[in-house]
Amino acid sequence: HKLAVFASGRGSNLQSIIDQGFNIGVIISDKKQAKALEKAKEKKIPSLFIDPKAFSSKTEYEKELLKVVNEHNCNLICLAGFMRILSPYFIRNAQMKILNIHPSLLPSFPGLHAHQQALDYGVKFSGCTVHFVDEGMDSGPIIMQAVVPVSDEDTEETLVNKILKEEHRIYPEAIRLVVEEKIKVQNRKVIINE
Ligand code: GRF
Repeated sequence: HKLAVFASGRGSNLQSIIDQGFNIGVIISDKKQAKALEKAKEKKIPSLFIDPKAFSSKTEYEKELLKVVNEHNCNLICLAGFMRILSPYFIRNAQMKILNIHPSLLPSFPGLHAHQQALDYGVKFSGCTVHFVDEGMDSGPIIMQAVVPVSDEDTEETLVNKILKEEHRIYPEAIRLVVEEKIKVQNRKVIINE
């Protein structure tokens, strides 16, 4: 497998994917200033800022994303803090698996500000989820989750950090399962054959 990683920001999950030695064909960002692009350059991995504003529509933008993924011969897309919802057009035309990591125990707290949502709700545990991307919002079949306790002292910042630690552990693990073809999906449920 050759990975295309999409990232908009800090790039700490990208870093954990790089550290595990996966074959990354290209790193794509929709933000020029993304730290993820700097990391890519350091590691001499092909990387590209693709500016959404340079395209007449979301579909045109997504066509370009797909073109770049295909030009680099990637066959697995990993979203790592890509702050843009991919449309059904993209999902249908990608013809490859797309993975995402989300900082909550899905199906709780999808969407933006997952940590704050968890704190506001008052849950005693939260965590992170690696899942296949489907046409919904953070709604695809779940591959792996990790749990972290939430304490009364937690702030958004402390919870972000606790969860990130687990993200960096399980995202590469889940990618490995996909790359090694140890996963199948039956009735929307992921079955792992180790
Ligand atoms: C992570 O919290 C991830 O779960 C969410 O976006 C954030 C990306 O962080 N999808 P980073 O850019 O990988 O550091």
